[in-house]
Amino acid sequence: MQQKDTLFQHEGPVADFVFDDKVADVFTDMINRSVPGYASIITQIGTLAERYVQPESVCYDLGCSLGAATLSMRHHIKAGGCRIVAVDNSPAMVARCQAVMDQDQSDVPVELRCADILDVTIGNASLVVLNFTLQFVPLVRRDALIRKIFGGLRPGGMLILSEKIHFEDAALNALFIDLHHRFKEQNGYTRTEISQKRAAIENVLVPETLRVHEQRIRSAGFSSYAVWFQCFNFASMVAVK
Ligand SMILES: C[S@@+](CC[C@H](N)C(=O)[O-])C[C@H]1O[C@@H](n2cnc3c(N)ncnc32)[C@H](O)[C@@H]1O
Repeated sequence: MQQKDTLFQHEGPVADFVFDDKVADVFTDMINRSVPGYASIITQIGTLAERYVQPESVCYDLGCSLGAATLSMRHHIKAGGCRIVAVDNSPAMVARCQAVMDQDQSDVPVELRCADILDVTIGNASLVVLNFTLQFVPLVRRDALIRKIFGGLRPGGMLILSEKIHFEDAALNALFIDLHHRFKEQNGYTRTEISQKRAAIENVLVPETLRVHEQRIRSAGFSSYAVWFQCFNFASMVAVK
């Protein structure tokens, strides 16, 4: 059962953030109170699945955690003969995600894999979701991953990429970080919790600018690209092959 996130209430040195059992137990509360627009993005992934998923194709949820995006796709896919491949390399997340999928009554089959998304073959895809996952992939591996996704998509297929983002303008970057921290305070996190979480995650989550994301997406071959959602330093992009 999901619990309230109290993981960063202690003072003192913190270890690097990992997606272990403790995080998996509080993940739903953590992401909803930490990522502006998370619930809206999950809802709209379903809306986009309804519109873009092609018959007899595969949808991928890369870095699926507890399967929120998978469930949203699963509940909205109208095309026949589809299946979803959901991938995460955290055994703690995959175990809980499997329980979530087992309790869901939808017809669309879900294949859950505990694997590194860098090792997964993408094929016959009409929708690929990277919802706040690319930011954890080493920078030097990101170009190849986006190229692999492009290669595995059918023509007309869509990539949804949601990320924490960085701004070239230092003053605006500082402003959006501050607004994000205010958002977390408004959601009940203390200043200690906010600064301890930031210390834990800063070596693990490496944000890039929207310009870098667009360049990578276009140079992989995607013909269209847009930012469809942004709140402070969080954005969600779509790209169509
Ligand atoms: C912020 S969470 C993603 C949230 C999720 N997509 C959602 O919409 O609720 C990032 C997830 O990516 C997973 N992850 C990070 N790097 C990965 C990799 N190289 N391969 C597979 N999973 C990865 C983590 O274990 C974690 O569960």
